[in-house]
Amino acid sequence: MLSLGEVDAPAPAPGEVLLEVVATAVNRADLLQRAGKYPPPPGVSHVLGMECSGRIAALGESVTGWEIGDEVCALLSGGGYAEQVAVPAVQLMRIPAGVDLVTAGALPEVACTVWSMVFDTARLALGESFLVHGGSSGVGTMAIQLAKARGARVFTTAGTAAKVAACRDLGADVAINYRERDFAGVIADETGGDGVDVILDTVGAKYLARNLASLATAGRISVIGLLGGASAELDLGALMVKRGTIYAATLRARPIEQKAAIVAGTEAHVWPLIGQGLVKPVVYRVLPLADAAEAHRIVGSSSHIGKVVLTTGTSG
Ligand SMILES: NC(=O)c1ccc[n+]([C@@H]2O[C@H](COP(=O)([O-])OP(=O)(O)OC[C@H]3O[C@@H](n4cnc5c(N)ncnc54)[C@H](OP(=O)(O)O)[C@@H]3O)[C@@H](O)[C@H]2O)c1
Repeated sequence: MLSLGEVDAPAPAPGEVLLEVVATAVNRADLLQRAGKYPPPPGVSHVLGMECSGRIAALGESVTGWEIGDEVCALLSGGGYAEQVAVPAVQLMRIPAGVDLVTAGALPEVACTVWSMVFDTARLALGESFLVHGGSSGVGTMAIQLAKARGARVFTTAGTAAKVAACRDLGADVAINYRERDFAGVIADETGGDGVDVILDTVGAKYLARNLASLATAGRISVIGLLGGASAELDLGALMVKRGTIYAATLRARPIEQKAAIVAGTEAHVWPLIGQGLVKPVVYRVLPLADAAEAHRIVGSSSHIGKVVLTTGTSG
């Protein structure tokens, strides 16, 4: 269960800033952490929250380039469901043009995840084809738009007709209701049997064989979620024949240098597309932090499309 409580105020260590949090957002991993299945890395706050927006309230030693009062959003290792959080300055981002401070609280996780795993790691390029599973998820809504804005042909899967329609509205060329049609069959038909160049996978074991069957020669699979299990048999022969690559990573457990590079890459490559209106944050609901349990219920029921945001009440 979730409950609001009082904890000691965090203090910024050297290289960190203290943020007055305006908004945070629910990530699927928060539900796992709540259930005791995704503990925070050593030394990280046990308060939930892997992203936030807010204002800088204090600067730790040796922080340069930021000032008290600056409006920012941040990739966090934890602690975002709070009024204040201390975060390394290298994990801060400016607010993208045209985005309000509350909405910006829903951007860091999805933008950094998609930037790092689809573009930086799997190198999705102009003119290539891309499949993202869970197109209506927070990550999926960002992945569809970014891949489209950067010139890919986009395929996606989703579990209801309304979600499929939303994915098409976001720019997906082919949106597949996986409850009605086998996605691997649709991909084979749509690509003339060639498959797709990059797959962003949130399902894991259950989709491994079909993802591999749907992969183009020299294709790349980025696994970021295990909603369909962690263990499955991999046909290495099929992977070899395709000269394929499978990456798997989490964002939260990475060393700070890698997070800094991902945050910088996201600001450099994703923020301008948001500023131009080519990529829009998709927010399903905004609730006060006191309603975090209801926010988790919504995300747990998978009835949402996009992100569920929590506000701390310090936005004014
Ligand atoms: N590795 C990383 O660093 C990283 C970072 C961010 C997110 N993630 C992962 O990426 C995934 C999406 O995250 P999110 O916060 O954007 O999620 P989200 O908004 O909660 O959406 C997840 C979606 O997945 C689908 N789903 C739920 N249970 C499923 C199941 N058992 N099998 C197949 N599909 C299921 C649902 O859509 P349908 O109704 O269409 O099935 C649901 O809306 C999660 O697995 C999360 O842990 C990983």
